Amino acid sequence: MSKNFDVIVIGAGPGGYVAAIRAAQLGFSTACIDEWKNEKGGPAPGGTCTNVGCIPSKALLQSSEYYEHAGHGFAEHGIEVKNLGLNVGKMLARKNTVVKQNNDGILYLFKKNKVSFFHGRGSFVKSSDGGYEIKIAGAGEETISGKHVIVATGSNARALSDVAFDEKLVLSNDGALSIEAVPKKLGIIGAGVIGLEMGSVWRRLGAEVTVLEALPTFLGAVDEQIAKEAHKLLTKQGLAIQLGVKIGAITPGQNNVSVEYTDEKGNAQKAVFDKLIVSIGRVPNTNGLNAEGIGLKLDDRGFISVDGDCRTNLPNVWAVGDVVRGPMLAHKAEEEGVAVAERIAGQHGHVNFNTIPWVIYTSPEIAWVGKTEQQLKAEGVAYKAGTFPFMANGRARALGDTSGMVKFLADAKTDEILGVHMVGPMVSELISEAVVAMEFRASAEDIARICHAHPSLAEATKEAALAVDKRSLNF
Ligand code: FAD
Ligand code: NAI
Repeated sequence: MSKNFDVIVIGAGPGGYVAAIRAAQLGFSTACIDEWKNEKGGPAPGGTCTNVGCIPSKALLQSSEYYEHAGHGFAEHGIEVKNLGLNVGKMLARKNTVVKQNNDGILYLFKKNKVSFFHGRGSFVKSSDGGYEIKIAGAGEETISGKHVIVATGSNARALSDVAFDEKLVLSNDGALSIEAVPKKLGIIGAGVIGLEMGSVWRRLGAEVTVLEALPTFLGAVDEQIAKEAHKLLTKQGLAIQLGVKIGAITPGQNNVSVEYTDEKGNAQKAVFDKLIVSIGRVPNTNGLNAEGIGLKLDDRGFISVDGDCRTNLPNVWAVGDVVRGPMLAHKAEEEGVAVAERIAGQHGHVNFNTIPWVIYTSPEIAWVGKTEQQLKAEGVAYKAGTFPFMANGRARALGDTSGMVKFLADAKTDEILGVHMVGPMVSELISEAVVAMEFRASAEDIARICHAHPSLAEATKEAALAVDKRSLNF
C-alpha cells in the first residue's frame, strides 16, 4: 500500500515548500518531494533560491560590499584600514553556512507543520482513484499517491546554444557563486539581473569585469530614467558594460575562454577572459516529471500551461513558480504557492501581478513596482511624475551614500499611484511601502501626507510623492 496524501508538492523551492506549509496549515495531509543534494548527498530543500540563487548571491553581495567599504569607503569616515586582506575561501564558506542554515530551517518548518518530506526525484506514474501516483527515485524508490499535485520544479540556467556550462571556465549562476580565486578578467554574457549582481560581487573583490549585452538598451524592463542613472553609476564603479553586441564563437582553452563578438558599431572584437559567466535568462525545468506520459500540457516555450489560478490542463494538478509564466522571482513563486493551497481548500487565493516588486541588489540597489514611464506613454495613460534625489536626503548624506533617486508615477486625474521606481541605498527595503500603497490603491497624496521618521531614507519616498504635486519640501 502506497502512502496516501491530500496534497503532494513536487519541488521544495520557494514556490513548493511554502505551498506545502500552507497546505498543511489548512489541515491537509501533505508531502513535499525535492531532489536537491548538499555536498554530502543529503537533502537541501529551498531550490534554486536557497542553494544557488537569492540567498548565496545576497551573502556574497554583502561580503563583497563590506570589502569594498573597508578598502575604499571607510577612509572618508576617518577610519583607516591597514593591511586589508581578502580570504575568498572563508567568504565562500560563510556563504555555504548561510545556505545550510536556510536548508535546515526549511526541514525544521516541515517538521513543525507536519509536512512529510521525501528526498528524491518525483515523477508522475498514472492517475488513480481521482488522484495521482507519484514515484520518488532517491536513495531507494517508492510510490506515493495524492488527490492534488502541485508542481513547483523551478528553472535552470539557459546555456548559449553552442557552449555548455562546465562550471570551471564557462559558468552558470551555480559556478558564478563558487569561484575559488578572484579572476583577473571576468567576462559576463547578459546584462540582466544575474549579470549585474554577480558582476558587482567579483568587481568589488578585484576582477576586471566586462559585461556583454545583446540588446541596445540597458535594463529595458526598468523605468528609462532609473536605468540611465543605474547605468551611469555602475559604469563609474568600473563595470565595463557593452550594449548591442552579437556574440560569436566562444572557445574555452586550458585556463581561459576566448569570446568573439561584434560590437555596437559592427566591429569584430575578441576578448579573452579567465572565467565567463553566461547569464542570459532561465528555462523552465520539467525534466524527469514524465509530463508527456501523464498528458501535462506545456506551452511552446516549455513552461507548464496554467490558467490565471495556476490550474494545469489535468484535474487537481497545479503548477507554480518559475515553471509557469510570469516573473521568475522567489516571492512570486511563494505567493502562487500559498494561493494554490488556499484554492484547494476552497478559499479565494489571490496573487496581484500588478504589485509584484522587483529588486536588483547592486550598489546602489534598483527597485520598482508597477508601470514604468515608457509603459504609461505606450498605453496612452495620462500621468504625473515626481522625483526626489537621495543627494537631498539627510540620512543618505550621513550614510555617505547619496546616489540615485525615488520616482513616483501617478494618474494625472485621480492621483492613484501607478508605479514607483528607485535607485539608491537600501531601496530593496523602501520599495515595500510603495507595494503596500499600490495594493491599497493609494494616491501619491496619501503617501505625501503620512508622517515618515526623520532622518530616514524613507523620507525620499514621501518627498517624491510630494514632488508629484510639485511641492517637495527639501529639494
Ligand atoms: P526553484 O527554486 O528552482 O525550486 C525548484 C525545486 O524543485 C528545486 O529544488 C529542484 O531540485 C526541485 N525539483 C525539480 N524537479 C524535481 C523533481 N522532478 N522531483 C523532485 N524535485 C524536483 N528571486 C528573487 O525574488 N530575489 C532574488 O534576489 C533572486 N536572486 C536570484 C539569484 C540567482 C543567481 C538566481 C539564479 C535566481 C535568483 N532569483 C531571485 C530567482 C529565484 O531563485 C527563483 O525565482 C525561485 O527560486 C523560483 O522558485 P521555484 O520554487 O519556482 O523553483
Ligand atoms: P535576465 O532575463 O535578467 O537577463 C538576461 C540578459 O541577457 C538580458 O538582458 C538579455 O537581453 C541578455 N541576453 C540574452 N541572450 C543574449 C545573448 N545571446 N548575448 C548577449 N546577451 C543576451 O536573466 P538572468 O540575469 O539570467 O536572470 C534570470 C532570472 O533570475 C531573472 O530574470 C530573474 O527573474 C531571476 N533573478 C532575480 C534576481 C533578483 O530578484 N534580484 C537576481 C537574479 C536572478
